[in-house]
Amino acid sequence: MARTPNREALIAAAREATARSHAPYSGVHVGAAIRAASGRIVTGSNVENAAYPLGSCAESSAISAGVAAEGDTFRIAEFAVWAVDDTGRVLAASPCGGCRQRIQEFAASTAILIHFPWQGGEIRTCALEELLPFAFFLSPDRRP
Ligand code: THU
Repeated sequence: MARTPNREALIAAAREATARSHAPYSGVHVGAAIRAASGRIVTGSNVENAAYPLGSCAESSAISAGVAAEGDTFRIAEFAVWAVDDTGRVLAASPCGGCRQRIQEFAASTAILIHFPWQGGEIRTCALEELLPFAFFLSPDRRP
């Protein structure tokens, strides 16, 4: 498992963000934390809606916070996700398929590390290119 000096702090920020999620329908409270290439830490949480498809994933919320803070120059250097149920039990939570593509849009490189809780209490660290192999790019020069 790859480790970086920032890993534990970033996971802690994602864990803290789970406390500020809005998940009354699923009971799955997801937090995401991004270390931007600038060094800034931004976080987000899932925001559900009574019209279920309108809900937002935590990863998407954190990316929006990054763009709101830094505009079009925002780039993701490292990503962490955490999830708990209503009782605080940790849930396995790798980013969903759509969020993998959202992360790629702003990734500083395809090798950026993504940390997330997995089964058996393990915390997994994967490179973006492992989670999203053969990714879609509009053109070669748009490849991070
Ligand atoms: N969710 C996320 O926030 N991120 C993901 O990558 C997958 C799922 C949220 C959406 C919904 O609010 C809850 O988890 C249950 O699906």
